[in-house]
Amino acid sequence: MTKKRMDSRSRSIPTKDEGKMKTTTGTIGNYRIIKQISEGGFGRIFQAEHVLLEEYACLKQNIHDTKQDAELLRKEAQLLWRLSDHHSIPTAKDFFLIGTNNAVMVMNYIEGKTLEEVVASNGRMYAEDACRVTERLLSAIYYCHFNGIIHSDIKPENIFVEYQKAELDIKLIDFGLAAERPNHATKPVGYTEKYAAPEIINGNPPIPETDIYGAGIVLLRSLGGSVEAKTYPKDTPPAVIAYCDRMLRYDPRERPTWEKDNPLTLLGDTRMKAFGRRHRNG
Ligand SMILES: Nc1ncnc2c1ncn2[C@@H]1O[C@H](COP(=O)(O)OP(=O)(O)O)[C@@H](O)[C@H]1O
Ligand SMILES: [Mg+2]
Repeated sequence: MTKKRMDSRSRSIPTKDEGKMKTTTGTIGNYRIIKQISEGGFGRIFQAEHVLLEEYACLKQNIHDTKQDAELLRKEAQLLWRLSDHHSIPTAKDFFLIGTNNAVMVMNYIEGKTLEEVVASNGRMYAEDACRVTERLLSAIYYCHFNGIIHSDIKPENIFVEYQKAELDIKLIDFGLAAERPNHATKPVGYTEKYAAPEIINGNPPIPETDIYGAGIVLLRSLGGSVEAKTYPKDTPPAVIAYCDRMLRYDPRERPTWEKDNPLTLLGDTRMKAFGRRHRNG
């Protein structure tokens, strides 16, 4: 169950071209809508094509045209804009208003499936692949933290697994709950109960360790473990279990951090123990 943005109400959004009609066809600015990909509590996502460039794009539009939601999407676009140079983070390409309170964020279109969809259809990933996904994810998280941003909503639904790549690659998506330089007074905007770190459930502000916990949840789910019981399939390498358990510690101070015991270095050590190599070539 998601608690995010409980104040949002349901209604359709008019576009410039369609007056009061629901935005599932037509054009928005320079973008021709191809299809709606998803609709969450807050935003609709579309696959679109730039009419002049004839290239794909992905559009996110707030569903409820309130000032508050348009501002949330503006903030999300601004943070994504700053983070777009990382290969495991989508590229923000544009942001504009099509009504006073209706905003559109344009990103690059990514061909893929969420990690949740991949695991739900395949059961689980090979443990070494799960570690590779975690490596890419941690690299994106490090980049966010280096830039003062805590993602705060890292979960299997917000990891996009890309196909048509030589190697297994991912993108960390959905910066809707991201916090910029949070301090002790920052309140969590929302969270997903099933996956949230204990400190967030207890009403505390997001901290870097919150995202490390999220990476632990993603690794656990990729391995085919139970998120609720925090248990792993019997054949999971013990070193991988020990590593994942550390990321999932209740007390954030016991989780690995960039300064103390870099989670990426620990992951390399873990892969060495479990698979006899730190990286897989190709
Ligand atoms: N850049 C993108 N390219 C392709 N599909 C995307 C992109 N961003 C998001 N999606 C799709 O839209 C879904 C919802 O996006 P997300 O940003 O997580 O919105 P929400 O706030 O509704 O959770 C994702 O699960 C994914 O399927
Ligand atoms: Mg999402």
